[in-house]
Amino acid sequence: MTRRHFLELTGATTALAAAGFVPVACDGGGPPPPDIRPPLRLPRVVPADVGHELVARASADLAPDGLGYGGAVPGPVLEARSGGEVHVVLRNALDEPTTLHSHGAVVPHEMDGHPMNEVAPGASFVYRYPVEQRAGLLWVHPHPHGRVARQVYRGLAGFLVVRDAEEDALALPTGERELFLAVRDAAFEGDGRLRYRDDRGGFWGNVPVVNGVPWPRHEVAAAVYRLRLLNAANARVFRLALSGGAPLTVIGNDGGLLPAPASVASVEVGPAERLDVLLDLRGARPGDRVALRCEREGWDVLAFDVAERVEDATVIPTALPAVETLSHGGGVDRTFRFQGHLAINGEVYRMGDVRARVPFGRTERWSLRAEGGGVHPVHVHGAHFQVVSRENGRDPSRSRVFAHERGWKDTVLLLDNESAGVLVRFDGYRGLYLLHCHKLEHEDHGMMLDFVVE
Ligand code: C2O
Ligand code: CU
Ligand code: CU
Repeated sequence: MTRRHFLELTGATTALAAAGFVPVACDGGGPPPPDIRPPLRLPRVVPADVGHELVARASADLAPDGLGYGGAVPGPVLEARSGGEVHVVLRNALDEPTTLHSHGAVVPHEMDGHPMNEVAPGASFVYRYPVEQRAGLLWVHPHPHGRVARQVYRGLAGFLVVRDAEEDALALPTGERELFLAVRDAAFEGDGRLRYRDDRGGFWGNVPVVNGVPWPRHEVAAAVYRLRLLNAANARVFRLALSGGAPLTVIGNDGGLLPAPASVASVEVGPAERLDVLLDLRGARPGDRVALRCEREGWDVLAFDVAERVEDATVIPTALPAVETLSHGGGVDRTFRFQGHLAINGEVYRMGDVRARVPFGRTERWSLRAEGGGVHPVHVHGAHFQVVSRENGRDPSRSRVFAHERGWKDTVLLLDNESAGVLVRFDGYRGLYLLHCHKLEHEDHGMMLDFVVE
């Protein structure tokens, strides 16, 4: 058990911090990286609109007792186009119910993988919906209530990428220079099986894992790479930076391209958040190693080994297409308090109990508050939102909207006792959607609610 985990469990973080003690990230306590790192695994890319069958089943990619979509960790990259459609068939080859949720996609309720629409063991379900949103990196994962943490932890996660003309015009790196990276943590037993304990406070692994591979390396050219990063961890927040101290150029997040590129020394990414990052290795020489580092743990999560020099005329954009800015439409203001390990506004999840009625097409301001229980990555289904404020009483440096949080988001990271104001407008579909904490143990234990757009 890590110290941070222990503090969250005991709820002691608040009391200790009030006494002037700020818990620091400790090392994950796990084994160090091997001398020779294993190669990174790259997911295969399949068209999203051809009825591809995604079988949720056992997979040894991550561990002997692991799971994977199509038997792979991560699952495939489902590639969609704005204006096109997603059409995938989930077949449940598990021995328990599951669903397929397209995280970040605005879809009709029936296609959302809502826990009330479970797919029984042995059954299949066709997920089919039009893609009416801009380019961005989304992801698919299970959403059966009370089972999400375990199913995701064991390996069920895949990418869904939306392309559009606006993004094409930027001529960003593609093919082998566009890397889809699901970053998470895990813990393993001596025999390679997964270690997990269902703890409502959250589970932290002690080893970084990218695309199902612990401590991987990847051979690259001295060129520009586009990193499509997903924090696929159950509970862990990563603070990503480059080992040599060079800045990262962030061009996108959950909802697609940012309004402007952000050059940052490091960037914090919570569970379920995505980042679109340009990594310029043109100054590197064959033999160099540049690592994607997590500064919270001191982990070199993924090592890039520069193998060859190439010609690369990629232009790093200095400007990005304009993004619509929401303004308060006179809709209601709502406050959602994420309390301890399982409650929102004092109540745990009861499926189908409608806790808010939100008018279609009206922009509202939601105040999302983390009140104990550690970090809460707060996620909204059914729409994207814009972060307009953050307050952190203890750390004024965090009382702002970060450059990588501009534009559209579907998940906002709240550190302990932080709050954020977001503007949100549900103009996709009417129906029942979810608001929840994406620390998966919090979600499973009830930090979730149903609201209806009407
Ligand atoms: Cu990533 Cu409700 O989900
Ligand atoms: Cu979602
Ligand atoms: Cu939470």
